[in-house]
Amino acid sequence: MEHTSSTPAPDALVGLVIAVDGTSGSGKSSTSRGVATRLGLRYLDTGAMFRAMTWWLLREGVDVHDAGAVAARCGEPDIVSGTDPENPTITVDGTDVAVEIRGDAVNGAVSPVSAVPEVRARLLDLQRAVIARETRAGGIVVEGRDIGSVVAPDAPVKVYLSADPEARAVRRAAEQGATGATDVAATQESLLARDRIDSGRATAPLVRADGAVHIDTTPYSLEEVIGLVVGLVEDADARVRAAR
Ligand code: DC
Repeated sequence: MEHTSSTPAPDALVGLVIAVDGTSGSGKSSTSRGVATRLGLRYLDTGAMFRAMTWWLLREGVDVHDAGAVAARCGEPDIVSGTDPENPTITVDGTDVAVEIRGDAVNGAVSPVSAVPEVRARLLDLQRAVIARETRAGGIVVEGRDIGSVVAPDAPVKVYLSADPEARAVRRAAEQGATGATDVAATQESLLARDRIDSGRATAPLVRADGAVHIDTTPYSLEEVIGLVVGLVEDADARVRAAR
């Protein structure tokens, strides 16, 4: 399968939004970036925005378990996401935080921060502004937890990715350069803890959105999952053409 060169997104779907939701470690980021690259679309990692907010709050010494304190400060940082799928960037007040937001401190604090409604409202505004800009220019693959349900409920293509907890932990630990059994077990525990909070929160929990196609990625290679999602885009394109 050819994924390195990009082919234009189908014509009928100019202004296309592809919503990719799912659990931590289900392959969302690699899949979303691969689909965007293949179709010549932009890419937005909304998880990175929640991570950047969390990084800033921790640096400011805000107690991330105090929802009132988080709400009071979350309007302050200037968070900017670059949308090149081959080089997604993230800055806070002009500082590149791409590495810092993947560290243990942020991993351990991002779920409670993401549960604060004021944080979600602030980032929703930023996400919709990026989507509006990029859909005028062509189209965008957006990944997160609430994209198909809240951020872009009208997206013509919605995908919900999941994978067995063990497969997710092995992939995530390998991404972080850790492969020992203890590392994998610790990674699995941390992924499951985040899932519990992400799925249980009151505002915009992780859910399979109406109309989302569920793909369990466990038995598939990355290339196969990318191919499945591109197939869904082509199906949506054919539907739009047929309805004309
Ligand atoms: O996709 P990720 O693991 O980088 O996301 C980090 C955290 O951000 C995740 O635990 C939940 C939160 N998140 C969210 O609440 N809503 C989104 N749209 C994306 C991420």
